Amino acid sequence: MTNPLHASYYADHALQATVSIVENRQVARDTFQLRFDCPDLARRVLPGQFLMLRISGATDPLIGRPLALYDTVLDADGTPRGVDVMYLVKGNLTTNLCRLQTGQRLDIWGPLGNGFADPAAKHLIMVAGGIGQTPMLALARERMGLRSFGDPGRSVPQAERVTFCYGARSADYLAGVDDFQQTGAEVCLATDDGSLGHRGLVTDLLCEILDAEEADTEVVCCGPEPMMKAVSELAIERGVPCQVSLETPMACGIGICFTCVAKVACGATWDYQRTCVEGPVFDARRLVWE
Ligand SMILES: Cc1cc2nc3c(=O)[nH]c(=O)nc-3n(C[C@H](O)[C@H](O)[C@H](O)COP(=O)(O)OP(=O)(O)OC[C@H]3O[C@@H](n4cnc5c(N)ncnc54)[C@H](O)[C@@H]3O)c2cc1C
Ligand code: FES
Repeated sequence: MTNPLHASYYADHALQATVSIVENRQVARDTFQLRFDCPDLARRVLPGQFLMLRISGATDPLIGRPLALYDTVLDADGTPRGVDVMYLVKGNLTTNLCRLQTGQRLDIWGPLGNGFADPAAKHLIMVAGGIGQTPMLALARERMGLRSFGDPGRSVPQAERVTFCYGARSADYLAGVDDFQQTGAEVCLATDDGSLGHRGLVTDLLCEILDAEEADTEVVCCGPEPMMKAVSELAIERGVPCQVSLETPMACGIGICFTCVAKVACGATWDYQRTCVEGPVFDARRLVWE
């Protein structure tokens, strides 16, 4: 099946597996990092893609939930083997998931979605709010020239500079900051209460950087919708390319149910597109915000 408008096109390109938890540890307030072994997925998944996950045998929730690729784990000879995701405890799935132990079983299907588009600029600015940092780590590793992703491993031009702007309610919600620092990216933090970094919005940090920046910059962002809208508007005003990774709720993840639609500009009008198939990453200029 080669018609990308047909659901089976996506289903046929994803793998489905039952995997065992290798590690499920708390990394920040209400935030956990989960690792499982799945060499087929680890080999193929790209930065910005996601997987659907459900707890094997569970009926609450019955349907899976989307989680972004956080990182892949290499074995001793450098072959991708494990997959890391990071999640905020929010509702039914994540409340149950955070109680699971090593060895317990999960059903996953992926890799899904388009992932981040090919890089366009020398300076990549990643802007994340809340749990929106999760799709950024693999991208940072790739653009810093530390890792390649995909099968066969794709070659992406290295950025001259990668800046990671990350905002959360308070310091205890910031998760994975060390991971980003280890990539060599410049890390700029913001918290609503001033407990770490800039007191205020992550968009304040972005404004400062864009004001000082001359040219050849691109922005990627992920987080709460008002933040993504503000980042998109800032980037568009300044003529800076911007990719937005949406976190729209999803039921199937493979293009069938249309629960995940976003309004996307099509010529002079707009149409609904599926975040799971046409996204989750969209060009900011095409998104029609409510
Ligand atoms: C492509 C993609 C990647 C994602 N990656 C991650 C990730 O890496 N880590 C992570 O923690 N989360 C991620 N999410 C969001 C995550 O899938 C949802 O928060 C999920 O619903 C949590 O499941 P739950 O059963 O715990 O909560 P649910 O029971 O589904 O929901 C709990 C509450 O949150 C509300 N809600 C659910 N989803 C959303 C949403 N997207 N936006 C606003 N409100 C919502 C519900 O209405 C409900 O009130 C991603 C979403 C998408 C689409
Ligand atoms: S989640 Fe079903 S079509 Fe996108």
